[in-house]
Amino acid sequence: MIFTVAIDGPAAAGKGTLSRAVADRFGLAHLDTGLLYRAVGARGGDPVAAARDLTPQDLLRDDLRTLEAGQAASRAAAIPEVRAALVDFQRRFARAEGGAVLDGRDIGTVICPEAEVKLYVTASPEVRAHRRWLEVGGDEARVLAEVLERDARDMGRADAPLKPAPDAVLIDTSALTVDAALAAALSVVAARLQDGSDRSESP
Ligand code: CDP
Repeated sequence: MIFTVAIDGPAAAGKGTLSRAVADRFGLAHLDTGLLYRAVGARGGDPVAAARDLTPQDLLRDDLRTLEAGQAASRAAAIPEVRAALVDFQRRFARAEGGAVLDGRDIGTVICPEAEVKLYVTASPEVRAHRRWLEVGGDEARVLAEVLERDARDMGRADAPLKPAPDAVLIDTSALTVDAALAAALSVVAARLQDGSDRSESP
């Protein structure tokens, strides 16, 4: 079975939690594509060379989740040659036998426009900053400023800007519990899987 679930959205919208849970529930592989850009930013030096030489070990660093790593990732992610170096790996992952969930910014628009399911997960900047602050601590106003700066850079860049694919299902998690957001995501994926198996059964 080739079946791709693309989950895009802005910083700290809850994509990671939803992606992992969707992958677990349906037995799909999962790739957090933000980690690729975080690892490129964290290597330092020339980001294009870092993207071209990225190894699985780079993804295991324990400093990839910091605010600084997020900023470095979004700066590196605006460079077209960095994005180009990471495309093939993501496409192969998305279309590998067995099915996959990928979360990021451009999965439904650029990496896998043919994805069977596209979700665009969002929430207000204040809610997202509060959630990220619960994870990283520090000064909440600074976390909000970082989230807004990263949103502006990710949405404003020329190459693969963050935006919902025209056929994406929008999930605004501002007022939803994790369970409610997950129920919404699972029902979209389950309906599409059912749809696919009905079609393959029909004569
Ligand atoms: O976890 P969070 O939503 O804060 O960020 P992330 O998904 O780890 O992504 C970090 C940064 O990588 C983003 O701000 C984007 O600039 C970049 N990114 C991207 O450009 N394209 C992707 N598919 C994934 C991440």
